[in-house]
Amino acid sequence: MPALVLLGAQWGDEGKGKATDLLGGSVDYVVRYQGGNNAGHTVVVGDQKYALHLLPSGILSPGCTPVIGNGVVVDPSVLLSELSGLNERGVDTSKLLISGNAHIITPYNVTVDKVTERFLGKRKIGTTGRGIGPTYADKINRVGIRVQDLYDESILTQKVEAALDVKNQILTKLYNRRAIAVNQVVEELLGYADKLAPYVADTVLVLNQALEQDKVVLFEGGQGTLLDIDHGTYPFVTSSNPTAGGACTGAGVGPTKISRVIGILKAYTTRVGAGPFPTELFDEDGEALRRIGGERGVTTGRDRRCGWFDAVIARYATRVNGLTDFFLTKLDVLTGWEQIPVCVAYEIDGKRVEELPYSQTDFHHAKPVYEMLPGWNEDISKAKSFSDLPKNAQNYVKALEEMSGAPISAIGVGPGRDETIEINSFL
Ligand code: GDP
Ligand code: IMO
Ligand code: MG
Repeated sequence: MPALVLLGAQWGDEGKGKATDLLGGSVDYVVRYQGGNNAGHTVVVGDQKYALHLLPSGILSPGCTPVIGNGVVVDPSVLLSELSGLNERGVDTSKLLISGNAHIITPYNVTVDKVTERFLGKRKIGTTGRGIGPTYADKINRVGIRVQDLYDESILTQKVEAALDVKNQILTKLYNRRAIAVNQVVEELLGYADKLAPYVADTVLVLNQALEQDKVVLFEGGQGTLLDIDHGTYPFVTSSNPTAGGACTGAGVGPTKISRVIGILKAYTTRVGAGPFPTELFDEDGEALRRIGGERGVTTGRDRRCGWFDAVIARYATRVNGLTDFFLTKLDVLTGWEQIPVCVAYEIDGKRVEELPYSQTDFHHAKPVYEMLPGWNEDISKAKSFSDLPKNAQNYVKALEEMSGAPISAIGVGPGRDETIEINSFL
């Protein structure tokens, strides 16, 4: 059973970095398959804390080969500074492989992201401003720059020219900005070529050969199911497919190879940026979740919006990803509430609705229907097995499992590697 996918089941920041790192010691490859440095994955190893944006969290496990797949968008300056930051802390990054087909986030993609958001004003998405959407747009429009283009100056120049022909018209005439010079961009990009060269590889071939040899490959999603461009709360989404299918296209591995799909699920809900969020709290409970859970964005430093657990969303994530397991994180954050509300259904225009509505209008009108579950006061951060948890915490987990449609195979009770209760082994 060599290929596993690990992905966010909500709106991102579920604790994917910690979960990936935890498995990293037992797998041969960890592969990012979509997104870019909009992700912020926190990994805590002993007293060391790492914030990873582009590199797969497996980079911190010495035996594991980290891979940036073809579906990822790569900002070379961010990648190189992330690598040197890790090297300075003694992490060996020499095994990294980067797909030659991954697209490059160019400086003009970052500019377009920022000016577009400013132009949208009140209607903005609240992007991370990292150039993600414009880079994927260029890819789909067939004017994107790929990693392999850094090694052919003539092709690179032609492609940058083609991309800037249109963008400079928009930047100067619509957004009232200065035009971007082709040679400046080409020069900057060529400056990255030698530095990235040792890592560039045919990752599709490498990964498929690894799977043929029964090596264990873990695909690490960025963002989350509800931020998926197809299955999320469009248009308040990211521009890629964090859902399980994205692992196949974003790494070049067939669906028949994937044996397990693990959804990372926070014991409550958070969201960064704009868009609907039925269980969002605007009171002291929301403030308490934010404070106790440390809910501040790793990438942009924005406060995360916080709310109660939403089982409708969890069920939806099970369905669209074909989840085989959940990894429930941050259960410890809920310690101290007398009663914990859990959203079991929505009320939409006076009607009870059990499943996520496909219509954006309906979702905007969705009001949570809550069931109250009894809370607990005991410190659970030292719990090592399910039976160490207080009865009410056990019942909370069991209730969530029942509502969400897949077994909860691990529970996070703290940010550290060892602050995890393993129920069913993932490997
Ligand atoms: P990711 O984007 O899904 O990797 O998640 P982030 O790293 O952005 O946010 C998750 C945060 O929760 C990080 O600060 C983690 O260190 C922390 N975390 C992960 N699992 C747990 C847990 O079980 N309990 C607590 N208290 N913190 C956790
Ligand atoms: P990780 O991997 C939470 C959100 C942004 C914005 C929307 C679009 O750490 O879970 P983008 O820059 O991608 O075009 O922004 O998506 N977003 C995230 N929210 N966690 C993330 O990543 C996110 N990556 C993007 O806030 O609402
Ligand atoms: Mg994050």
